[in-house]
Amino acid sequence: MTNIQEVISAVRAGEIKGFLHESEAVCLFRYCTKLNALGSALEIGSYCGKSTVFMGQAYREGGSEEHQQGQQYHDPELWDTQLSGVNTFSYFRQTINQFNLDDIVMPIVAPSKVVAKNWCMPLALVFVDGGHSEAAADHDVLAWSRFIEPGGALVIHDIYKNETEGGQAPKNAMLKLLAQGCFYLERKVGSLVVLRRKAPKRYNRMGAS
Ligand SMILES: C[S@@+](CC[C@H](N)C(=O)[O-])C[C@H]1O[C@@H](n2cnc3c(N)ncnc32)[C@H](O)[C@@H]1O
Repeated sequence: MTNIQEVISAVRAGEIKGFLHESEAVCLFRYCTKLNALGSALEIGSYCGKSTVFMGQAYREGGSEEHQQGQQYHDPELWDTQLSGVNTFSYFRQTINQFNLDDIVMPIVAPSKVVAKNWCMPLALVFVDGGHSEAAADHDVLAWSRFIEPGGALVIHDIYKNETEGGQAPKNAMLKLLAQGCFYLERKVGSLVVLRRKAPKRYNRMGAS
């Protein structure tokens, strides 16, 4: 069975297409490991399976006793002539299968908005790395944060201090969520941030504990 070191070696060998830096992917893996007892994790914006493998591997190891066209990023290998568009799904399935995660990862091929509208399951962790426009980032951060359990995490990719470093839409969405007061920023690794949902204070007869 694959372990996280084998996943990292495969990434270093360039076997999986994707955008996460190794330190960001390892941070995502660690939070999925830490939170998997709280419930399932959801990824918004899978590509060819790179981030998904780190998340899936954490959920796999969590249950193990042995060990815990023209666009900037266009990739011609992923062009589907029948669909006349980019199609990463066969590549994604191949990646998931390569790391024996078919029984852990449940792909949903649909726009994030459609899935969110029909979703009702509480989640331990949501990883947002989908559309990077203001509208898409606002939707994904604000809509999906509602499903996160107290103590759970919202992980967001591509948070940059200013425009010279990168687009500001994910950061603006994050700031809107933080202003609501239910989440706090716990960690930043590269451009990846981890927000945690505050747990409600426990009260006894003498007041807050
Ligand atoms: C930056 S890539 C994600 C990379 C991935 N996290 C990785 O490291 O392998 C963004 C992905 O989000 C998808 N996406 C963009 N807008 C979306 C939407 N509204 N709903 C669902 N997926 C979306 C894109 O098709 C693309 O596959």
